[in-house]
Amino acid sequence: HHKGFIFDLDGVIVDTAKYHYLAWKHLADELGIPFTEEQNEQFKGVSRKRCLEILLEWGNLKVSREQFDSWLTEKNQDYLQYIEKMTEDEVLPDVPKVLNFLKAHGVPMGLGSASKNARPILKKVGLIPYFNTIVDGTQVSKAKPDPEVFMIAAGDLKLPPRDCIVFEDAIAGIEAANIAGMTSIGIGDPETLSGAKYVFKDFTEIDLDFIKELAEL
Ligand code: G6P
Ligand code: MG
Repeated sequence: HHKGFIFDLDGVIVDTAKYHYLAWKHLADELGIPFTEEQNEQFKGVSRKRCLEILLEWGNLKVSREQFDSWLTEKNQDYLQYIEKMTEDEVLPDVPKVLNFLKAHGVPMGLGSASKNARPILKKVGLIPYFNTIVDGTQVSKAKPDPEVFMIAAGDLKLPPRDCIVFEDAIAGIEAANIAGMTSIGIGDPETLSGAKYVFKDFTEIDLDFIKELAEL
């Protein structure tokens, strides 16, 4: 195959962005730091540690390493309570349509996520078997917009970056795909994701002819 597809997880395959938001909001409230959904945009695609650093910068808080780590743990435990309850129903609309189509045509697929919880989430929603490689936050050292996560996935799929198509909902993720020299497809608001080559509100707006063209089938 000439082409391969790499999917971000949170906000592309599943709507976990809302759970990340709730967990960060909970902590922010506790610390007396204002935190809106708009600010949450800046957390998309960004590692857990970096998110907390940004939150503390906004709140002008400087804390010890121990305190920092304990808040990181608290946020994740809160988040995991939501993940625990996830089912296959939480796969975003028409994502299975695209995954099934690509799988049926033998197109290589990879996951490229900053999340350390990516595997358990994929397992919960039953999508592990679709992916030829799963690259997550436990494997990468440089966060998006650094292209590392997508470059590792491309390497695993044995494809040059120019033959990879990336689906992303985060500004940082679109940037990472572009820097890597991959075709970037934004899922979300066209204004927010203006750096993407194509943008769709969600997968219901993507038809299989377009996927076929991208995959050069
Ligand atoms: C994804 C999400 C981010 C999240 C990051 C780390 O990229 O879009 O909002 O902060 O993963 O997730 P984790 O599950 O490791 O805390
Ligand atoms: Mg995302």
